[in-house]
Amino acid sequence: MAGKIALIAGATGLIGNELLNYLLNANEYEKVVAIVRRPLSEKHPKLEEKLVDFDKLEDYIDVFSVDDVFVCLGTTIKKAKTKEAMWKIDVDYPVSIARLASSQGVRKFLLVSSMNADPDSPIFYSKMKGKLEEEIKQFTFETTAIFRPSLLLGNRDEFRLGERVSAAIFTVVPFLFAGPLKKYKAIEGKTVANAMYKVAQENKTGVMIYPSEQIAEIGR
Ligand SMILES: NC(=O)c1ccc[n+]([C@@H]2O[C@H](COP(=O)([O-])OP(=O)(O)OC[C@H]3O[C@@H](n4cnc5c(N)ncnc54)[C@H](OP(=O)(O)O)[C@@H]3O)[C@@H](O)[C@H]2O)c1
Repeated sequence: MAGKIALIAGATGLIGNELLNYLLNANEYEKVVAIVRRPLSEKHPKLEEKLVDFDKLEDYIDVFSVDDVFVCLGTTIKKAKTKEAMWKIDVDYPVSIARLASSQGVRKFLLVSSMNADPDSPIFYSKMKGKLEEEIKQFTFETTAIFRPSLLLGNRDEFRLGERVSAAIFTVVPFLFAGPLKKYKAIEGKTVANAMYKVAQENKTGVMIYPSEQIAEIGR
């Protein structure tokens, strides 16, 4: 049987880059298409890099004729500057990808959301992720897998205070995140990526939500 084709959005990011490597090294995939706005540093015989304008994704409809789609896009308010600009990257782009993927008969759609995603939250970030999940659930896929990691750990070029503080607390007092606080334990981007890859190989159908604790178990 021929291998599957994966499409990944966000392959230059912390989770996305780890995921790209899992997918490229996986026997299940014969080709991995990465839609990017800037060139990747990786070269690999299975990798097809597609530079796209994320505001005009419908111009690249053929790219979405794949088996599994992985979306790891996102930004920070510091980078985006405004809530509107952040919403466009964190919600509008993933929703456009889901729409095009669904129209092309994609079987599995895997999305990175966030812990505390809640469309009714008074907190902008949690509300944004909750609305994103609501919209994604409207599209038909054999499997829709939504991952809700807690604070991410991993090597970044940029400085993110929250991630550094969390990593420091966990190193000094690891027992703090046992018991009821376990769900708040920070998680490595690589663990999230591995969980996404593994879930894509399962035969579950319908919409599935993966909280951070479960991601940690699957991806370890
Ligand atoms: N940080 C945390 O602690 C945390 C916790 C829970 C959930 N999350 C969520 O997890 C997801 C992945 O996080 P991450 O830390 O792996 O992300 P990241 O390292 O910030 O990477 C984000 C990805 O999105 C792409 N992107 C950003 N702006 C774009 C734009 N205007 N057009 C096209 N692509 C754009 C980036 O591409 P470029 O390289 O071209 O910029 C990059 O590939 C995000 O949705 C985030 O909200 C994060």
